[in-house]
Amino acid sequence: MTEKTKLHCTYSMIFRYFQSGIVIIGPSPLCFHHLLKWIPSPYNENGKENIKDFDKIKRRMSNNRSSREPDSYTMNGGKGAYSYSNNSSSQRAGIEASKDIIDEAISKELDLTKLSLTSNAFSVVDLGCSTGPNTFIAVQNILDSIKQKYQSLSLDSEIPEFLVYFNDRTSNDFNTLFASLPPNKQYFAAAVPGSFHGRLFPESSIHFFHSSSALHWLSKVPGECLNKNSLAWNKGRVHYTNAGSEVYDAYAGQFAEDMGKFLEARAKEIVFGGMMVLILSGIESGMCHSKQPAGLLYDLLGASLMDLAKKGVINEEEVDSFNLPLYTATPEEMRERVERNGCFSVVRMEMMKSKLMMDVFLTNVHLATMILRSTTEDIVSKHFGSGVMDEVCQQFSAKALDIAKKLNPEEYQGYRLLVILKRN
Ligand SMILES: C[S@@+](CC[C@H](N)C(=O)[O-])C[C@H]1O[C@@H](n2cnc3c(N)ncnc32)[C@H](O)[C@@H]1O
Repeated sequence: MTEKTKLHCTYSMIFRYFQSGIVIIGPSPLCFHHLLKWIPSPYNENGKENIKDFDKIKRRMSNNRSSREPDSYTMNGGKGAYSYSNNSSSQRAGIEASKDIIDEAISKELDLTKLSLTSNAFSVVDLGCSTGPNTFIAVQNILDSIKQKYQSLSLDSEIPEFLVYFNDRTSNDFNTLFASLPPNKQYFAAAVPGSFHGRLFPESSIHFFHSSSALHWLSKVPGECLNKNSLAWNKGRVHYTNAGSEVYDAYAGQFAEDMGKFLEARAKEIVFGGMMVLILSGIESGMCHSKQPAGLLYDLLGASLMDLAKKGVINEEEVDSFNLPLYTATPEEMRERVERNGCFSVVRMEMMKSKLMMDVFLTNVHLATMILRSTTEDIVSKHFGSGVMDEVCQQFSAKALDIAKKLNPEEYQGYRLLVILKRN
């Protein structure tokens, strides 16, 4: 077998394993490391895929929209300049800001004596984990709090073994994630690929779910926004920010549907008394969407794409048919979904103010551009073709610099919505 054929077979195998939902599991990722040494990384030093070498294997057709999995886009992999792992400090801030509240919820509300543990294993899941390092920080905080709770109850000898499942879409760069697992971790690690809008685990098998900066990603763009004959057709924009109410309503409907499916799946998977922590972009009810930093970011991305269309780099119909599947929910919407599901009680529901993104915008346009790039390059490139992102970022930076001089930061406010639920 030639090296090329070996490589092809191994990658095809790994992809089939991920797609079929088979879990890769082990206290130390030794086998994975051997594989990683043997297989060259599919990401270059900038965190972009080495398409030249891997396109046959992944059968990626960058401009063939009909061939795509609906949920195939994800964050930039690898550890390069444009990678998520190097540009995720704003998301990390959300994990850090929630730490004490989660700790308190575990200490006061998680009844360890009533949780059923099969084979003395406590299972924790991070949904939408991406490539790290944020997921490792979030998981460690949770494990520390749980161990602390055992100790505070003088149950030191009953501290279980921990099994941590890292979930993300199949196209996530799990190689980078597992290659960067903390060497001194005190848990077993496993990958569970697939969309969190559906079932991922057997019934009553999980004790603790966590998800940060992931649930505001919708399962898809609402169909009406792409239909020229619909009032919700989102011509010339890429998001509902500054669009008509029909567009917003279509997005809100998609979020409600997605969150319904999410809660339904988790309700089956979590044990009675188990806890779920969700951290996502939030907005106060009635607040103007264009006055939140994320809205500003999406608007500038849309304007940058329209500029490229005017220059003839891309065409306008392509912009019309492109929308970001991202939604910022109000606490009321979340509560309504939880109540409708009926399987969870709300332990905490908090809007946490976040100045960070606005500060980044005003003081560090380069970082704002990197945040945009690391999170949207995949979805943008899959729609407009690989190679367009450099120009998108140039346009975006120029616009962001310009707007940063003019806007009044007092008018903008970012929020994170923190929701802690317990299975009834
Ligand atoms: C901004 S990253 C957040 C990563 C990490 N949780 C953090 O806080 O830094 C969002 C992640 O959610 C994942 N994601 C979005 N929708 C998903 C879905 N339906 N199922 C699983 N993962 C999803 C994306 O692929 C991406 O890796």
